[in-house]
Amino acid sequence: MTDLSTTAASAPSPEQGAANGSGASGSGRDSLTVTDNRTGETYELAITDGTIRAADLKQISADGVGLATYDPGFVNTASTRSAVTYIDGDAGILEYRGYPIEQLAEHSTFLEVAYLLLNGELPTQPELDSFVHDVTIHTFLHENVRQLMQGFRYDAHPMGMLMSSVSALSTFYPDANQISDPANRQRQITRLIAKMPTLGAWAFRHNQGKPYVYPDNRLSYVENFLAMLFKMSEPTYEADPRLVKALDVLLILHADHEQNCSTNAVRSVGSSQVDPYSAIAAGIGALYGPLHGGANESVLKMLRRIGTVDNIPGFIEGVKGGKEKLMGFGHRVYKNFDPRATIIKKACDDVFEVTGVNPLLKIAQELERIALEDEYFVKRKLYPNVDFYSGLIYEALQFPPEMFTVLFAIGRTPGWLAQWSELVQDKEQKIARPKQIYTGYRTRDFVAMGDR
Ligand code: ACO
Repeated sequence: MTDLSTTAASAPSPEQGAANGSGASGSGRDSLTVTDNRTGETYELAITDGTIRAADLKQISADGVGLATYDPGFVNTASTRSAVTYIDGDAGILEYRGYPIEQLAEHSTFLEVAYLLLNGELPTQPELDSFVHDVTIHTFLHENVRQLMQGFRYDAHPMGMLMSSVSALSTFYPDANQISDPANRQRQITRLIAKMPTLGAWAFRHNQGKPYVYPDNRLSYVENFLAMLFKMSEPTYEADPRLVKALDVLLILHADHEQNCSTNAVRSVGSSQVDPYSAIAAGIGALYGPLHGGANESVLKMLRRIGTVDNIPGFIEGVKGGKEKLMGFGHRVYKNFDPRATIIKKACDDVFEVTGVNPLLKIAQELERIALEDEYFVKRKLYPNVDFYSGLIYEALQFPPEMFTVLFAIGRTPGWLAQWSELVQDKEQKIARPKQIYTGYRTRDFVAMGDR
C-alpha cells in the first residue's frame, strides 16, 4: 500500500468540524483507501475537513500519467478554505461569520454586515461609526469617470456600464495593485463599497437620459443611493423609511454566498494578483449572466410573458417538456428552501404596503403553488430561490429589470471583497489553473492553403 500523504489529520477547529462533519469511523483513521484496478495497487489518501487533496491523486498512475478529477462546474470540488460564509443547503442555513442571515436581516444594517464580512466580527459602535464615515467620504467619483460613462450608448445595459466603470477605476487608482499592503487593500475596499452605488445610480440615470446626481453625504448609504437614482429638482430627496429598510435588507441578503459563480470569478481573476477593481469587474461579469444574478430580471420578464394566471398550466407544461426553465427556481446548493427567499417574501409585504401590490405577485404566488405540488419540481428539489420574489420588490421600488442585477452587485460587493481579501492572505492559494481532458487532434502537419 502506498501512503500518499500523512493521514494524521489534526483536530478540526469548531468551524471546520461544523462545516464538514469530518470524523473517524471504521478503522478510526481519517483516510480513504482506494485500489487502482488497472494496476492492483492500493493507496491510502488522507481525509482532511471532509475532503481528499486532488493533488494526492496525481501519484496514482498506470501509464505515467497521474490520476485527476473531472468536475465541470465544480459540483463537488472545494477550491478554498474560507471562514466568511457558511451554507447548509439541505437545512436552508445561511450564516455570515456564524451569524444567521435571519438575525442579520432583522437587526443589522448593510454597512454593519459589510464590516462583519470584511473583518470577521461585528463592529463596536466607534468601529462602525468610523467605517460608515470612511465609506461616506469616498462616494464621489473622479469627473473623468462621469465622462467615461457618458460615452456609452443611450440604451447601454447598466450592468455593462457598471462592469466597465469598475474596471476603469483600476486606472484611476494604479497603486491598487499593491495588494500585499494591508492599508492599501483597505483603501480600495472602502472605495469600492462607497462608489458602487454612485456608479450604479449613474448607469441608471444614463439609461433614463437624466442628469447624473452627485452623492449627498448627509444621507445614509441606502438613502444616498435612492437619492442619486430618483432625485429631480427637490433640494433633498426623502425616501420612505420603510422602502429604505426593505432595500437595506435586500442588500444584506445578497452580501455573500460563499463560492458561487461570481465569487469564484473574483477569486480566479484575483489569484493572478491583479488589483481588486479588475477582480471585482470579473465578478460583475459573472453576475450579469441569466443563470446567476440575471435571474431576477428573467423572472420578471417570464411573469410578464405568462401574463395571466390562466396561462400558468400551459407554461408549466412547457418547462416540464424542456422548452424553458422556470426562472427563479432551483439552486445549486439549496435543495429544500432558500432562506433568503423566505425573508424576501416578508419584505414584499412591507414594500407593497407602501407602493401597492404588484399585479405580477398573483402570478408568482400561483406559479409557486403549482410548482411546489408538481412531481417534476418536487423530484428535482426545485424551490423558489432569492431571485423569484426580489424582482417584484425592485419593480415596486420603480427599478427597471435591467437594474436588478446592478442592485445585486452593490449588495455582493462586500462579500466579493471579503473573499478576495481572504484569498490574498491565504498562503495555500495559487494562481487558478484547472486541468483539462484534451479531446482534440494530436500532432498533424500544416496543410497549405491550396490543399485544404
Ligand atoms: N426550471 C426547470 N427545470 C430546472 C430548473 C428550473 N429553474 N432548474 C433546474 N432544473 C432541472 C434541470 O433541467 C435538471 O433536470 P434533469 O435532471 O431532468 O436534467 C435538474 O433540474 C437539475 O438541474 P441542474 O441544472 O443540474 O442544477 P444546477 O445545480 O446545475 O443548476 C441553477 C442550478 C443554475 C440555479 C438552475 O436551477 C437554474 O438554471 N435555475 C434557473 C435560473 C435561476 O433562477 N438562477 C438563480 C440562482 S440563485 C442566484 O444565482 C442568486
